[in-house]
Amino acid sequence: MYSIAIDGPAGAGKSTIAKTIAKKLEFIYVDTGAMYRAMALYFIRNGIDPLDENAINAACADVHVGIAYENGAQQVLLNGENVTGLIRTEEVGNMASKTSAYPTVRATLLDLQRDLAKKADILMDGRDIGTNVLPDADLKIYLTASSEIRARRRYNELIEKGEKADLAQIEKDIIIRDKQDMERKIAPLKKAEDAVLVDSSDMTIEEVVECILEEFEKVK
Ligand code: DC
Repeated sequence: MYSIAIDGPAGAGKSTIAKTIAKKLEFIYVDTGAMYRAMALYFIRNGIDPLDENAINAACADVHVGIAYENGAQQVLLNGENVTGLIRTEEVGNMASKTSAYPTVRATLLDLQRDLAKKADILMDGRDIGTNVLPDADLKIYLTASSEIRARRRYNELIEKGEKADLAQIEKDIIIRDKQDMERKIAPLKKAEDAVLVDSSDMTIEEVVECILEEFEKVK
């Protein structure tokens, strides 16, 4: 069985690229950010202060995150409820970035993530997959792009959807999120030593997909 780990900062295009590659290789795609987001949704719904570690720890005992697949697409279950459509907001993303720094939150999800990798060929994306969750992955990719480019892509996405967007604010938020994810004590976002660095700033999605597939050919 094969495993591919793709890590990188918010907005680098991980999920679009990971989904495309998983489909081509017929691997199961696991989006670990969605699991942290499901936990964050629970904390928001229950009015838990992200700075109150004791309250977060206590709440972890009541949270069960599960994963299911519908027509090949990952669904995230929060205590049995499918919350896939509710976790993509900035509010949930920011809460997830803050609360994922706590050891109890990470421990709650680690076994589930490792178990998924035992069952099938998988492509897992997140922040600590190559460094922590799957240190023996067959291929590790660290996918990044400059904060300007990541902000511009997010801005264009929102404008296309007909939503209002402020480019400077988006870039500020991205920089704060990077800092939180990279500076936390446990399993911070960083490139694994044996990961291949892919900077997508000047690449199209197709070029990134092609590049990762070529890297996989080398280790297969
Ligand atoms: O990839 P995303 O934006 O959906 O992730 C949301 C947050 O979850 C991210 O800011 C940090 C956290 N996360 C993590 O700590 N470890 C992972 N493997 C994936 C996500």
